[in-house]
Amino acid sequence: MLFQRKKPLDLILATAEKRSLKRQLGAFDLTMLGIGAVIGTGIFVLTAVAANKAGPGMMYSFIIAGVVCALTALIYSEIAAMVPVSGSAYTYSYAVLGELVAWMVGWALILEYAVAAGAVSVGWSGYANGFLAFHGLGLPDFLTAGPFYTQHVDGNTSVHMVDGVTHKGGFNLIAFLLALLVTWLLVMGTSKSAKVTAVLVMIKIIALAAFIALAFPAVESANFSPMLPNGWGTPLSGVGVLGAAASIFFAYVGFDAVSTAAEETKNPNRNIPIGLIGSLGICTVFYLLVAYAAVGAMGAQPGGLLSQSKEPLAFILREIGWPKVGDLVAGAAILALPSVVLMMMFGQTRILFTMSRDGLMPEKFSKVHPKYHTPHVVTWTTGLFVAFFAALFPVDILADISNAGTLFAFFMVAAGVMILRRTDPGRARPFRTPLIWVVGPLAMGGCVLLFFSLGWNPTIKFFCFWAVIGLIVYFLFARKRSHLAPGNEALLHGGGEKLAADPLVQEGPNTGP
Ligand code: ALA
Repeated sequence: MLFQRKKPLDLILATAEKRSLKRQLGAFDLTMLGIGAVIGTGIFVLTAVAANKAGPGMMYSFIIAGVVCALTALIYSEIAAMVPVSGSAYTYSYAVLGELVAWMVGWALILEYAVAAGAVSVGWSGYANGFLAFHGLGLPDFLTAGPFYTQHVDGNTSVHMVDGVTHKGGFNLIAFLLALLVTWLLVMGTSKSAKVTAVLVMIKIIALAAFIALAFPAVESANFSPMLPNGWGTPLSGVGVLGAAASIFFAYVGFDAVSTAAEETKNPNRNIPIGLIGSLGICTVFYLLVAYAAVGAMGAQPGGLLSQSKEPLAFILREIGWPKVGDLVAGAAILALPSVVLMMMFGQTRILFTMSRDGLMPEKFSKVHPKYHTPHVVTWTTGLFVAFFAALFPVDILADISNAGTLFAFFMVAAGVMILRRTDPGRARPFRTPLIWVVGPLAMGGCVLLFFSLGWNPTIKFFCFWAVIGLIVYFLFARKRSHLAPGNEALLHGGGEKLAADPLVQEGPNTGP
């Protein structure tokens, strides 16, 4: 019985149709939203963490993480075009794998989106605080970082350590304020936020292009040796090429946020695959070039200068004789990273909105603002949560925890898409993942590999703790309130009509696989 409470795809589509958000985003908007969500703290901040874990072999880490994401993007394109509704992996799992798995995926997506939004706010605050301090406006130390930031548990220096000195933190004020500002933008409306995002995406792309153009001529072959100072890495160690791949995976996360905007997209069958694959493709090309140029121009040995930098790309440019451009790249990060926070929070609100519409989260979360057409209650709730997260925790740990949740969700989506090919082969698929029986298992294998390459402490340990809490919340609260629970059938159609025996509600031994 546990896995048999499913929400049929037709019902999901009908509900979305009936209570949908305004469809106003096109292919260009989606690609911009995707890039807006992807290029951020990963490349601008965590490149140094990757160098510390893998040395020059971090180039392989970027490739490995990129391949896993490319496989996943192909899979997401199929399901997102087929089920163009808010909710992403959560919704797909609900239709295919049942309510319990869907709940766990939705629960894990809180790690992916809200925790990532917090991570990027913190990453941004490092740059912003540096900028303020440079201009004599620096905040007292205890307002520049959270209380837990002092040292990374596996021995890597935290990005908040300045010149090797550990500063005591208390409350990361700037990260907190950024999260609140972004929340306000989101409540004001997707369309305006998407326009802001497009401009910021351009700034990020110009910054990365400038870095590549200036660092390439400085590449020296000596900087690639030794290539693998920490080897390939062992499971749960969080170091080596695989450990770095599991961390730098964060740099690619966000392309799937495109699918969370499905319900607000015009012609989603065509535009969603373009947005997903286009944004990831563009980012991957930039990342591989940046990684090669960074390693070649500067060297990337663990414990070396690059691995200790808090603004690695700006730092390299300064070191190779382009200090002004280095400052501009740092400025671009300050201007543009907020767009990543925006997209992560956007994704989170849409997932919680959808879970609420299914009765699994409080009803208030699915309220839509009469004037701005945005789910304002869930947006403010998420915003406050993210703001406090950002105020209290350090970026590198948040990024790894976010990755654990994301990898779990990606794994489930790949499984779901393959199952659906078998159980519902006749359904229209505007986009079909090529070679699904090769791509699917490879994507799942890649997710497992990266998941177990994360460090046990604190990342995987925290993930297990989070999963247990999720199960408790589900069985104590969500399961009974679900619109698919016996007795709640009337709620399935928005609470309007009373439908005592709804044939679309599937619970019991006769359902699905
Ligand atoms: N990919 C996003 C970043 O790197 C989350 O900031």
